[in-house]
Amino acid sequence: MNCTATNTSSFRDYKGKKFLSYTREGDYAHPGEEDAIRLVFSYLPKKADQKILDAGSGLGGTANFIQKHHWGEVIGIDIDQDGIIFAQEKYPNCEFIYGDIHTVDSLFPNSPFDLICMFSTYYSFNQKNVLTAFHKVTKPIAKLAIFDYSDFTGGNNPLTRKEKNPCVPLQIDLITEYMELSGWMLIQHIDVTENFKNWYETLTKRIQKLLEDPDFKMREKALDAHKHYHRIYNSIANRETGGVILIADKMP
Ligand SMILES: C[S@@+](CC[C@H](N)C(=O)[O-])C[C@H]1O[C@@H](n2cnc3c(N)ncnc32)[C@H](O)[C@@H]1O
Repeated sequence: MNCTATNTSSFRDYKGKKFLSYTREGDYAHPGEEDAIRLVFSYLPKKADQKILDAGSGLGGTANFIQKHHWGEVIGIDIDQDGIIFAQEKYPNCEFIYGDIHTVDSLFPNSPFDLICMFSTYYSFNQKNVLTAFHKVTKPIAKLAIFDYSDFTGGNNPLTRKEKNPCVPLQIDLITEYMELSGWMLIQHIDVTENFKNWYETLTKRIQKLLEDPDFKMREKALDAHKHYHRIYNSIANRETGGVILIADKMP
């Protein structure tokens, strides 16, 4: 999850995600890696035959982990084609599709999904419009699960960037409103700020350790990453930014 001012896109693109997966020891680009997935899914029904869309699936590690632990059959979608090719090759048991989440309804006209999950992706989507697309691709009874940054500043969050590679930590009041407008109802709002703080502390320490190794090759990337994540950590420690899990039900 990258959301900083310096060169954010360098961690959202394929090479950036590969660096993160090396640092995080798994194909994950969200804080907390597998602990975070377990935590989010502890609020969701476990049904091996339900259809799950992993929106912004990155390198595919999250989709694979979800399916491997029998929470459902997962289809991942991402706008990064290299990431999709990597995921298709590494995790052939899941399905991965290249595409823009905002037009996901054109890819799934039969509305197959019981659940849509997002790990560190919703902050970069058009937070209002994408919910309407999600409504169209889900079954009449369906859920959304969002794991992301939250904004404690009322819209003045220092991590916010609206132009290229957007990053907008979630204003819960606004999201609740967007959900209601698009046919979703927020049923659970779980603050995970303390977890985020610990996870970012661990991540920056891991990067620091890599930098202490004189033989470590991706030094420039690591320095950049350290700066990014330290800034995020500080914003969390200063109570400007938090972490949140939002669970919503489709309205009848
Ligand atoms: C921080 S990464 C998280 C990846 C993955 N969810 C994980 O936790 O490992 C954000 C992902 O969202 C994807 N993404 C951003 N905008 C997108 C869009 N409009 N449609 C589909 N994917 C998008 C990026 O390509 C990137 O892989």
